[in-house]
Amino acid sequence: MTRAPNLQLDAAHFDAKARQWDENPVFRERALKIAEAIRRTVPLNRAMHALDYGCGTGLLSFPLKDELGFILMADSSAGMLAVANEKIAAQEVTNMATLQLDLMADPAPSRAFDLIITSMTLHHVPDADRILHIFHDLLTPGGHLCIADLDQEDGSFHGPEVDVHHGFDRGDLQKRTERAGFTDVCFETVFSIAKEHEAGTRDYPVFLMRARRAES
Ligand SMILES: C[S@@+](CC[C@H](N)C(=O)[O-])C[C@H]1O[C@@H](n2cnc3c(N)ncnc32)[C@H](O)[C@@H]1O
Repeated sequence: MTRAPNLQLDAAHFDAKARQWDENPVFRERALKIAEAIRRTVPLNRAMHALDYGCGTGLLSFPLKDELGFILMADSSAGMLAVANEKIAAQEVTNMATLQLDLMADPAPSRAFDLIITSMTLHHVPDADRILHIFHDLLTPGGHLCIADLDQEDGSFHGPEVDVHHGFDRGDLQKRTERAGFTDVCFETVFSIAKEHEAGTRDYPVFLMRARRAES
């Protein structure tokens, strides 16, 4: 898990992006593909309480809201959550709420969840092992964790100056996830992001990893 030094993509960075976030068709399509893959791999039902960590404006949560009992959308960016709250109000949604939360700094919510979903956020979290342990402790026994993120890349996705994980090697992430107490880890490629570079277009595959907290 290589991290490059320098530029931090902090909450202020995402605050500034929030108003235009949903205008990006790639972000919208990516979220729909991830939601489809979650439906395929987790038996969703209206009794489940879910946490969407690093929810942004809720692009992943909104397509799943009618198949779940409740979704807590958490993010460290107040700007992202402001947009998510406007969408909740505009659509008169009654089973979603938002919470400003950075699990690297803030106490974890006191309630447990049956499902944790997180899309394109893990590579922004400095200590991936720590967040995997926190996710584990936040899940009910048998609960599901679904992480969508970039496959390992050379740093060109964000640029070499940006301090994020350069995607994740699936085998390495599986071992780390199992070490955090999860079982039944599986991966699927769910999307690919095409980016223009000077040398031409490059594709960055996005995986969905599904894992379960052991029953006991
Ligand atoms: C690339 S965006 C993805 C947003 C959304 N999940 C989506 O797929 O459209 C990453 C999100 O993670 C949030 N984020 C980054 N670091 C975080 C942290 N430590 N805790 C909570 N949220 C974080 C950012 O504010 C941003 O909304």
